Amino acid sequence: MSTNTVDNARKVTTRRLIEMKQRGEKIAMLTAYDYSSAKIIDEAGIDVILVGDSASNVMAGNMTTLPITLDQMIYHAKSVMKATKRALVIVDLPFGSYQGNSKEALASAIRIMKESHAEAVKMEGGSEIRESIERILCAGIPVMGHLGLTPQSINKFGTYNVRAREEEEAKKLLEDAKMLEEIGCFGIVLEKIPSELAAKVAKEVSIPVIGIGAGGGVDGQVLVMHDMLGINKGFSPRFLRRYADIAGVMEDAIGRYVADVKSSDFPSAAESY
Ligand code: KIV
Repeated sequence: MSTNTVDNARKVTTRRLIEMKQRGEKIAMLTAYDYSSAKIIDEAGIDVILVGDSASNVMAGNMTTLPITLDQMIYHAKSVMKATKRALVIVDLPFGSYQGNSKEALASAIRIMKESHAEAVKMEGGSEIRESIERILCAGIPVMGHLGLTPQSINKFGTYNVRAREEEEAKKLLEDAKMLEEIGCFGIVLEKIPSELAAKVAKEVSIPVIGIGAGGGVDGQVLVMHDMLGINKGFSPRFLRRYADIAGVMEDAIGRYVADVKSSDFPSAAESY
């Protein structure tokens, strides 16, 4: 058995992600919200599974990530945890569960860790939520930051366009990233920002920087599973690479099933008792 095989079977931890960055090994992260998908993703060798609040869009059909509740996130996280053996599982703290005050933020993070058995939480924002992040970190809960296009703030931004193109916003983003590193976050997601800025952040902080629409100069990539597998076909941003047409495969299979039922071809004698 090669060293690589042994290493691939090892459980991924927050510490191991930092070692991967130090070795220059890229980190592959995907979302999952249910048992069956998480099992496939984990067995396929993903390093990190994010139980993202994008479940609000792709699972529940909402226009934004705002409506999903803490209870719903815990439900998704529990299902994912039952299936996952190797990947590190991170759960998004949903909108409204941590922005109020740091005591509420800690209570929300504790509920996620206690009830789902997940291994870390992710939170959107920088200096505005520093106190909440610090309180959660003090309880021994690993936190991943999320800067740039933070979808929970869509009503403030008014658009899903690229963030931090202007100097002032870029400067704040870099400061926020350094602050997240300094207070003890184990990683940062950078969403939809210029590649040059993302690469600068990845170079200037020692913790892993995972990009989505942030170019190739970062330490890893994350995509929403439903988008990259072509399950959700209505979303085609420039940063998305589609690896399959699962909606097409399903439509074809379901069409054939319907035809077989209508024609009485299914079930056959061999498929009956
Ligand atoms: O909720 C989510 O899926 C995310 C990713 C887009 C990073 O936060």
